[in-house]
Amino acid sequence: MNTDMVFCDRLLEIIHESFGSMAVIMVAESKIKKGKWIAVFIVALGLSAAVFFWLKKDTGTVPEYVFSYAENQTADYPTTLGGLRFAQLVEERTHGRIRILVQSQGILGSETEVIKQMQYGGIDFARVSIAQMSDFIPEMNVLQLPYLYEDSAHMWRVLDGEIGDRFLEYPQEYGLIGLSWYDAGARNLYCSVRPIRTLEDMQGLRIRVQEAKMMSEMMNALGAVAVQIPYDQVYAALERKQVDGAENNWSSYEAMQHYEVAGYYTVDEHIRIPEMQICAQHTWELLSQEDRDIIIECARESALYERELWTEHEMLARENALRNQVQEIYLSEEEKKKFQAAMEPIYQQYYTDYGKDIEEIFAQGTKGRE
Ligand code: GCU
Repeated sequence: MNTDMVFCDRLLEIIHESFGSMAVIMVAESKIKKGKWIAVFIVALGLSAAVFFWLKKDTGTVPEYVFSYAENQTADYPTTLGGLRFAQLVEERTHGRIRILVQSQGILGSETEVIKQMQYGGIDFARVSIAQMSDFIPEMNVLQLPYLYEDSAHMWRVLDGEIGDRFLEYPQEYGLIGLSWYDAGARNLYCSVRPIRTLEDMQGLRIRVQEAKMMSEMMNALGAVAVQIPYDQVYAALERKQVDGAENNWSSYEAMQHYEVAGYYTVDEHIRIPEMQICAQHTWELLSQEDRDIIIECARESALYERELWTEHEMLARENALRNQVQEIYLSEEEKKKFQAAMEPIYQQYYTDYGKDIEEIFAQGTKGRE
């Protein structure tokens, strides 16, 4: 990561510590929307000072609970801003009784570690990719099958409807409460050694995947060799040539500066992995029904906000990557069909147990699937 990025993240941390979530949201949102972020930073600092004194005057309350919230993205990333909005809403609606401290940049650990800690009550809240939950909540695999959704609208019809509500219940059996769905766009392949234009090009490449069985199966089905590595170590793994490539959405590719070490980006949209805001069961049990309702309501509102930010962030991330000499490659329709066909064994494997769910999801599409 370059020093600018560390500097920006540190600034946002200082603002957060001094002035709270609202100030960070203002500064980082301006960065996403206008790009002139240093200038905006100065203005926002003044405004947030005013907000700070207003909040102090208004809430003076000593919080009854101070909860931790884990987030592995950078301080100005849409999911982090969503988390901050969540914290801000909860604090407002509980009149300062519940304070949630959002810790971004993975400082509380990798997503897998965070989930484990939450099961023991060591961390209260988090936003995680469901890929990281799928090894121990197998139902989650259904929602992240490769080429499952036709597009983003199809995925949101599924998640906003009865299926999405049902899947938010599954983590409960594993000591976690599902609160809301966050967007993470579509994931694409990227590589440092060659542009990937065909299925042939995938053969033998070592590609980093998330720490999840299905992600390895998917990459191996494409003829590559899957290597599971935690998110914060991917840049180093690419730089040291421990792997030849990875796969992620434009926003993560740009935010983690992977474009510096893997400049061929192939838009194949092989997978959409929804993300979930979760609460530890241990924490949930401390709360009254009234507070639980507030938390769910604020989580859902923050999710709408995150989805709004996502589209713009993704677009700017792509533009910035292209400015940095990234070569963008599109798969031909014919090749895309070959990629899809290569995933067939994965469908067969999961169809036995989850055929009904898969059919239900297909039925929410508009193109008609077999
Ligand atoms: C996305 C997601 C992260 C996840 C990462 C990964 O960027 O938002 O939560 O950790 O993918 O590839 O590991």
